[in-house]
Amino acid sequence: MRYLTIALSKGRLAEMAMELFEGADIDCSGLKEKTRKLIITDEKNKIKFFLAKPADVPTYVEYGAADIGIVGKDTIQEEGRDLYEVLNLGFAACRMCVAGPMELEGKMDQMTITRVATKYPRIARDYFQHKRRESIEIIKLNGSIELAPLVGLSEVIVDLVETGKTLKENNLVVLDTIADISARMIVNRVSMKMESERINKIIEVVRKNLENN
Ligand code: PRP
Repeated sequence: MRYLTIALSKGRLAEMAMELFEGADIDCSGLKEKTRKLIITDEKNKIKFFLAKPADVPTYVEYGAADIGIVGKDTIQEEGRDLYEVLNLGFAACRMCVAGPMELEGKMDQMTITRVATKYPRIARDYFQHKRRESIEIIKLNGSIELAPLVGLSEVIVDLVETGKTLKENNLVVLDTIADISARMIVNRVSMKMESERINKIIEVVRKNLENN
């Protein structure tokens, strides 16, 4: 039997995913150890795990370097890779939003927006082109997106909002919600056919485990 490979997104998502797998009797405890080892193995279940940058997880899965991946819906949408999204894991829930200064609240439709700052250029472009049919300049930033409207880099931002605390503390508000985001399980298209029995079993065990939590 060949090993199935699972790619986890480094960070908070990985910790929650590990708990989920452990609750499903799949051993990925080795990932918690502070070693430089990149891949750990559950010999009993013939599963290998590795941690990757969230944005790279869909890439590993599309190419079949990982059969399964755990990653946020935001990253799936932004990367636009060819793969199956098989399960909503529910955790790491937040919203992808357009946000900006309070003065714009309820006025987005009357406003001409010229520049949008975001870590998610594809999602922002799709939203403004398809939903609002506007041509705007997307400015890619790598973090602290809320700064952009405060210092005049852009009128609005497209970013994740979890508790809303960052927006509030910077006098910004949600102007529109683009999508509900949470962690998802993704599967390589070929693996889903070739290893359907084992993969479906993992999906089922994880799903049951989620229901019981
Ligand atoms: C994320 C996101 C927002 C913030 C939202 O940033 O980009 O800035 O969290 O959370 P809140 O609604 O609970 O305040 P993150 O902390 O990941 O850092 P970043 O700004 O460097 O991307």
